[in-house]
Amino acid sequence: MGRLPLTTRDLQNYKRQGRIITALTAWDALSGAWVEASGCDVALVGDSLAMVSLGYPTTLPVSLGAMVHHAQAVGRVIHRPLLVADLPFLSYQCGAEQAVAAAGRFLKETPCQAVKLEGAEPETMAVISRLVRTGIPVMGHLGLTPQSVHRLGWGRQACSASDQERLRQKALDLQQQGCFALVLEHIPSALASGLRRELNIPVIGIGAGPDCDGQILVTADLLGLTPSQPPFVKPRLQAAEMFKQELRGWCHEQRHREQTARPPREDNPPRPGY
Ligand code: KIV
Repeated sequence: MGRLPLTTRDLQNYKRQGRIITALTAWDALSGAWVEASGCDVALVGDSLAMVSLGYPTTLPVSLGAMVHHAQAVGRVIHRPLLVADLPFLSYQCGAEQAVAAAGRFLKETPCQAVKLEGAEPETMAVISRLVRTGIPVMGHLGLTPQSVHRLGWGRQACSASDQERLRQKALDLQQQGCFALVLEHIPSALASGLRRELNIPVIGIGAGPDCDGQILVTADLLGLTPSQPPFVKPRLQAAEMFKQELRGWCHEQRHREQTARPPREDNPPRPGY
């Protein structure tokens, strides 16, 4: 089935119309099909898949090749949402040439329409400017940026007045560089709310309070598939527990059936020599 996806412009129109943008992550064809069925507006192949799907303790180890592989799987089942992929750690921090090559892989080898990258340091700004001029739409990401976890930790960001002013300036710079939307993660609600008003581009919050142009969550957290969730996520069900219980039930049923259907071992000894 051909894709008739939403575009970055659609998201910007949604902001103008006051229509809330919904975004969810997907990491393979199975989760992608759930996300497609949700009717959400953006499907993000987030580098959180390093933790959700590959078992790493942080997002840092996932490679560009692995992200492309997962984006291809998700892309097979996503039709309506805007499809965005995260540029993984060290696929864009070594310069604009490297970033264009990395982002280009998502646009050429998968149906992704845009990339997301973290931060707004001067080097990152140069990279974003180059990507945008190359024709590759970029979603920014500020606040808790998991690729900097060893410097910033997992806690709430921009808690002091000076940090809030710094983040505000970075958000304006990202808009100026041409980002089409901005993810704000785990920051005070008032800061996100102010930025939603100040910026023309959509502000999509995750743990940034309700007053954003849109909300994004890691789908596995929302469904209770992950062993633990960040403090700003209230899982809508405990899927991991339900699945484990059902699988235990199935194993129990099979073992019970085996015992009644098969003769006991002593009545059916193995043939000598085997
Ligand atoms: O990788 C990810 O899942 C993210 C979140 C903002 C949803 O970047």
